[in-house]
Amino acid sequence: MTSLQDCLALDAQDPLRALRTQFTLPEGVIYLDGNSLGASPRAAATRVAEVVQQEWGQGLIRSWNDAGWISLPQRLGDQFAPWLGAGAGELVFTDTASINLYKVLTAAARIAREDAPTRKRIISERSNFPTDLYIAQSVCQEFGLELVLLEPEEIAGALTEEVAISMLTHVNYRTGAMHDMAAVTAAAHARGILCVWDLCHSAGAVPVDLKGADADFAIGCSYKYLNGGPGAPAFVWAHPRLVDRFWQPLTGWFGHAEPFRFVPDYHPAQGIQRYLCGTQPMVSLSVLQCGLDVFTAVEPLGGMAALRKKSLALTDLFIALVEERCQGHGLGLATPRAHAQRGSQVCLTREEGMGVDGKDSGAYAIVQALIARGVIGDFRKGDGTGLHKDILRFGFTPLYVGFEDVWHAVEHLRQVLESGEWRRPEFNRINAVT
Ligand SMILES: Cc1ncc(COP(=O)(O)O)c(C=O)c1O
Repeated sequence: MTSLQDCLALDAQDPLRALRTQFTLPEGVIYLDGNSLGASPRAAATRVAEVVQQEWGQGLIRSWNDAGWISLPQRLGDQFAPWLGAGAGELVFTDTASINLYKVLTAAARIAREDAPTRKRIISERSNFPTDLYIAQSVCQEFGLELVLLEPEEIAGALTEEVAISMLTHVNYRTGAMHDMAAVTAAAHARGILCVWDLCHSAGAVPVDLKGADADFAIGCSYKYLNGGPGAPAFVWAHPRLVDRFWQPLTGWFGHAEPFRFVPDYHPAQGIQRYLCGTQPMVSLSVLQCGLDVFTAVEPLGGMAALRKKSLALTDLFIALVEERCQGHGLGLATPRAHAQRGSQVCLTREEGMGVDGKDSGAYAIVQALIARGVIGDFRKGDGTGLHKDILRFGFTPLYVGFEDVWHAVEHLRQVLESGEWRRPEFNRINAVT
């Protein structure tokens, strides 16, 4: 049994503990939603003021050169690339994850059409994040392909000669389950299938080695574990062996080889720069840099190995405390227990019919009651079939979540369940964002 004292002792020994001071977190809040929107780096507000008042206010258009705005997507890409096992000049921050997925999936479809025109399938997971599936549907329509949706255990058997592209999210948003990127990619490549990876729940959260795994394309957002800010620009990576094979479909002038020659014909830049489209958002990119700078500060403290060690300790502790202290309320564990099979979040299920008047699972209301107590997680709706249940989702960002936070979060959960306060009408009214 772990006590509050044990948790305090773990915090006292934590080499990453001081990093919490680099974030602006409200007093009294235990923030377990950094897997959805990361916390604000303390440096962000000053940086915004500097960009708005100095670079934009005083520098005006000169700042594209003088403040280095023009190369910021590439510079940020170079700064973060080593955390993903990518090289300098291979990664850019630009656009959104959805848009970048459209670019890489289209590029992959063009490559597949040339190399293996008889392959007509893109495979993915039924519980992949919906935007990925929606984008894939559009690409399928354009290329005459078929999107085949699978459960995770069906993937290995579905890697056949009919498949052109495997499009998977490394860490699942609903369950926190993590694929073995190297093993899936190797199995897919052995059958001639291109691999596109969505790293939204992996970047900054778990070790990723794109080159080591020999992935083909990857994208991910930066507003979760990278703490880049709401709607912060996403990243895109293409393996150097593929990056120049085709244009990506959004052929804007920032991806042109010579944007300031203003020629009428499109000639793509070499390398990942061709994955840029139009004018880049300098305020957002500058704020994102504050989030990436925190990772630079983690390097001397042990880098990703230290983050992962703490993340696993936090999530192990949360699972153990929930199982010890919250029994008898219909909660289950959706997240795999094996370390190698999970990301940095823990997802709990609740059975349908356990909500107020047996109407739903009550999971949404429990999350709302926790938020009212200052413990912020989120809720993801099930598919109503029982296959994918309602989820209470808790993300553990080791940069700013401590062991004492975990103890108090579970204690709040226990009290919410035992008092039945989640039944109150205000916690059962569904908001636009869950
Ligand atoms: C796996 C995954 N892909 C994509 C997205 C969202 O993409 P975008 O930033 O374009 O909204 C999310 C958002 O949570 C996600 O979890």
